[in-house]
Amino acid sequence: MVVQASLEGEAYFPSDDVMEQAFVRDWEALARFADEDLEGFWAREASELEWYQPWERVLDDSQAPFFKWFVGAKVNIVQNALDRHMTTWRKNKLALIWVGEKGDVRTYSYFELYREVCQFANLLRAMGVQKGDRVTIYMPRIPEIVTAMLACARIGAIHSVVYGGFSVDALQGRVDDSHSRVVITADGGWMNGKLVELKKTVDDAIKRCPSVETVIVIQHTGQEVWIEPGRDYWYHELKQLRITNGACTPQEMDSEDPLYILYTSGTTGTPKAILHTHGGYMVGVYSTLKYVFELNDMDRWWCTADPGWVTGHSYLVYGPLLLGATTFMYEGAPTYPYPDRWWSLVEKYGISVFYTAPTAIRGLMRFGESWPKRRDLSSLRLLGSVGEPINPEAWRWYHSVIGGQRCPIMDTWWQTETGCFMITPTPVVPLKPGSASRPFFGQRAEILDEHGNPVPDGEEGYMVLTRPWPAMMRTIYQDDERFIQQYWSKYPGKYMTGDSAKRDTDGYFWVIGRVDDVIKVSGYRLGTAEIESALVSHPAVAEAAAIGLPHDIKGQAIHVYCILRADYTPSQELMEELRQHVGMHLGPIAKPEKITFMDALPKTRSGKIMRRLLKARAQGLADGDISTLEE
Ligand code: PRX
Repeated sequence: MVVQASLEGEAYFPSDDVMEQAFVRDWEALARFADEDLEGFWAREASELEWYQPWERVLDDSQAPFFKWFVGAKVNIVQNALDRHMTTWRKNKLALIWVGEKGDVRTYSYFELYREVCQFANLLRAMGVQKGDRVTIYMPRIPEIVTAMLACARIGAIHSVVYGGFSVDALQGRVDDSHSRVVITADGGWMNGKLVELKKTVDDAIKRCPSVETVIVIQHTGQEVWIEPGRDYWYHELKQLRITNGACTPQEMDSEDPLYILYTSGTTGTPKAILHTHGGYMVGVYSTLKYVFELNDMDRWWCTADPGWVTGHSYLVYGPLLLGATTFMYEGAPTYPYPDRWWSLVEKYGISVFYTAPTAIRGLMRFGESWPKRRDLSSLRLLGSVGEPINPEAWRWYHSVIGGQRCPIMDTWWQTETGCFMITPTPVVPLKPGSASRPFFGQRAEILDEHGNPVPDGEEGYMVLTRPWPAMMRTIYQDDERFIQQYWSKYPGKYMTGDSAKRDTDGYFWVIGRVDDVIKVSGYRLGTAEIESALVSHPAVAEAAAIGLPHDIKGQAIHVYCILRADYTPSQELMEELRQHVGMHLGPIAKPEKITFMDALPKTRSGKIMRRLLKARAQGLADGDISTLEE
């Protein structure tokens, strides 16, 4: 790629090679078509997939913000992700290549994956799991997390995947809120050479979850775990029962029927379950992955995300399978046992399209160029970034050291709520390091001030999305009111992203960060409320406030301010104890970077903690408006 100067600021233009191979060369023309005929664009995308029954209407916006897509259609996303390929040569193409942290390898052709999913689905059906039932999946990054998700979707059960790095409280809250009847887990997983005791966490968490009837346990690490008679079953033993063999007819789903819920942190309160559907989500994920990463039959796609987060759902599990692509999945840490583990896998498996998070890039940059330079990364043709703004320095390193100056970087902005990429380039779009470029086909974004007026280009404001899209969240599971209040009430008719951003004079969007109580630690989304409630569950803590402050590698790090109860005095030991306490309850990613003991917390007269003020003071910035601060 060449750097040119016909756009404002630093810009990288696609090379002739990239242009020549591009799937859509005329970005502007397609963008114009989709903008002028939103429903026509999405109908065309949807018609590339299989439907049991076609839609009567592409979009029903009569009950906005409860938008409906492909109204009246019948479909099953798994039928499209697997069965659709059974009648083509892709039946024998590799669907999944998996490498464990210990070096073990497993591969699945589309047929093999299909068969595994049918078996798992038959098993769930035999256990009485029905359409609409919730199933919690709490697993390491192993192939069975994929088959478990697809098995649920195949029979119309709603999966709720909880990230395997979360701990007891986080799991308990999510299982309980979803009223899951079944939990699928594993004995354990490997991360950074250490054993992660997943089953033990499940045992602790579901003590307080009366809805759980059955726990299915995958054997992975081989460690000894407790098997509760009548409740817990080894998956490999169930498979021997032969009830699982044979085909499994997918459940015909209404396009708008729920596919999954996924808990994510938002403004105040407990995490909320974002609900996605079979029809619209399928089309959104399929189409965005197709246009942005242009996966073809020569590609090997590696999305490093964990299936426990939305990136894993959309672009590790569903998207690539819908496209019939070959996905690579690795269980462990990028630096285990050495900082070139990822690059050695790119080399060995010939990864051609690689999608990761800025925090990982920054973390690996720290070890220097010599690690990636020892590896042959020439198979790569396209790179991607997601989860937080990528700082230009990391972008340039990724571009030159990993991408050899030849791989465009697709910086994709989106959210758990959006289901698929919303602001993103495609390979032919000129790139500016740090900007996710422009909205995807058919989309529009605006930057607004407090009163809903557009701010001039170059100025910061609230980023909103103004047109519906098929993969948009339908609601917060069991909480329509909160859905409206949180996303659609600040600016009626516009979707509030919760991000602040700027648009430049070329129409490129520059996301700055969250404007609510969400902290992005290493790209992971955590809520201040969750961290604070873990802290006050410790006997020493009377009150706590958590904020995110800039961190060189993590993007943001958690800083906590605590007021201790009368009998406790601040000490280094207590600080460490509190950090461990949060780690044990929520998960290691939620451990605060720093804890400061205070006598009082700044609050508004109505008693709300002013985190904004704590944040400003910690960074030595001006206080801003403090007229509501109590005396
Ligand atoms: O703040 C934005 C940031 O991540 C948030 C969404 O987090 P989550 O729901 O966990 O989904 C992450 C993966 C899709 C957004 O509100 N974010 C995500 N991608 C980008 C980003 N910020 C800047 N640039 C991005 N490419």
